[in-house]
Amino acid sequence: MARSGTVAVIGAGFYGSTTAQRLAEYDLFDTVVLTDIIEGRPEGLALDMNQSRPVEGFETKIVGQTTGADGSGYAAIAGSDIVVITAGVARKPGMSRMDLIEVNARIVGEVADNVAKHTPDAVVIVVSNPLDEMTALVALATGFPRPRVMGQAGMLDTARFTNFVAEELAVPVSSVRTLTLGSHGDTMVPVPSACTVDGAPLTDLLPADKIAELITRTRNGGAEVIALLKTGSAYYAPSAAAARMVRAVHEDSGAVLPVCAWVDGEYGISGVYLGVTAELGRGGVRRIVETPLTDAELAQLRQAAQAVAAKQADVHNL
Ligand code: LAC
Repeated sequence: MARSGTVAVIGAGFYGSTTAQRLAEYDLFDTVVLTDIIEGRPEGLALDMNQSRPVEGFETKIVGQTTGADGSGYAAIAGSDIVVITAGVARKPGMSRMDLIEVNARIVGEVADNVAKHTPDAVVIVVSNPLDEMTALVALATGFPRPRVMGQAGMLDTARFTNFVAEELAVPVSSVRTLTLGSHGDTMVPVPSACTVDGAPLTDLLPADKIAELITRTRNGGAEVIALLKTGSAYYAPSAAAARMVRAVHEDSGAVLPVCAWVDGEYGISGVYLGVTAELGRGGVRRIVETPLTDAELAQLRQAAQAVAAKQADVHNL
């Protein structure tokens, strides 16, 4: 596929910068724009990444741009087809994603205003935490049609679950398929009934208590990394997940991926941004794809929707 288009990554912390690097290394875009409020950081990282081009063999250019609280610098993202919002602070050990809601709502709200102004036609992928609430906030603040605003969480949670299952059974990760729905948090809904290893049901291969243990580890996957790092949160797996979503949109691939998307009637749930599987294309979310669930899984998903909807309603007042 020929290189084309521009993708912008807002926030040049570890998550943002590794996402920018992965996107550049795909060699699919003309330009990757990376912005941050820390003077010189995005320019420095872009310079460094551009210098990796001859070694890694990609031509995509990375442009770094410092932005100011007055919106200065945001003109650099104009013309981007896709914007990834990573801005916000990360958790510290012992914090829940929800502890970040007030501070990140301010940061992400400001970013969303600038995104609406400079890239009114872009597809936006939100990764800032708490994820489901920040995605709802961006939809609200930009006023974009909801299919053009989605969040990254399910790709990451599913990847963690898959990795744990593969390690447990000592099989390649490529043999394992897992699925998580719901929220990127306490009401994450792993879906064991949809999990397989080389096509065989996971529930036939591992006892229920072992699956439950892996599910708990998946639900706490982010916190486990933070506890080890002590400063900052995970970024290799998160950036891989976000970059793949960007790629599906850019390539108009129709890939069905677990993402945080606006749910309106599917699973009997309405009016909430929630982790579901969705078909992605140029316009963002083409449609939600309903996965067959057991009664217990569906009940958990509806519970998650209620919890998330309540928090998303709070976002209007932040
Ligand atoms: C995590 C953060 C990125 O789950 O939400 O690691």
